[in-house]
Amino acid sequence: MAAVQDTLNNRRTVYRFTNKVVERSELEMAFEAASNAPCHKQTHPWNYYVLGKQTRLKLLPTVISLAEEKIIKDSEGEHGASIDRAVSKIIDVPVLIAVTTKLSPADSFREEEDYAATVCSLHNLVLSLWDRGIGSQWSTGSITRHSSTYSILEIDEKMERVVGFLKIGYPESIPDKEKKSPSEIRKYLP
Ligand SMILES: Cc1cc2nc3c(=O)[nH]c(=O)nc-3n(C[C@H](O)[C@H](O)[C@H](O)COP(=O)(O)O)c2cc1C
Repeated sequence: MAAVQDTLNNRRTVYRFTNKVVERSELEMAFEAASNAPCHKQTHPWNYYVLGKQTRLKLLPTVISLAEEKIIKDSEGEHGASIDRAVSKIIDVPVLIAVTTKLSPADSFREEEDYAATVCSLHNLVLSLWDRGIGSQWSTGSITRHSSTYSILEIDEKMERVVGFLKIGYPESIPDKEKKSPSEIRKYLP
């Protein structure tokens, strides 16, 4: 029990990864945990697309144009550095996974429940990796929502929604995060 509590309480989003390779066997264990998440009506609404080098390269034109748009909008800092950073976030991360949830346009409650289940599955995967010293970051940046991402990944926008990218690797550093105490988030009712 203590080990599970530690994994839950110590997990933090990791933004910087070492170059150490994450073995496929480690990912497969995490996918098993992801597959065992709860889902109502046995819909298993989640899918995981592990993006290889070729697929990541195909994303770059859109990554670069989104970074350029952001630079113009925010009139922020130095051009080259911001674009390099955006490219690096896709190319240099050890493992990059697009996570999708099933859409049910005719049934909004089913779609909401399926999204909830997909988040359970995603977090099972994150915690399984964390338990073995592997960190991750859930990202909902603009590239995860762009229509070109759907076409490159061959995902039908009418059938599935990308809920985010998971960036995965061995942590270079683990950030601190302020969290609410249990007494702030719960109320026992009579
Ligand atoms: C739905 C969701 C979307 C997120 N999207 C991003 C993102 O686009 N970029 C980012 O840097 N972090 C993203 N995060 C990570 C959060 O910033 C992070 O979970 C938060 O700072 C709390 O830190 P912790 O995960 O270490 O507890 C996302 C987290 C969630 C749950």
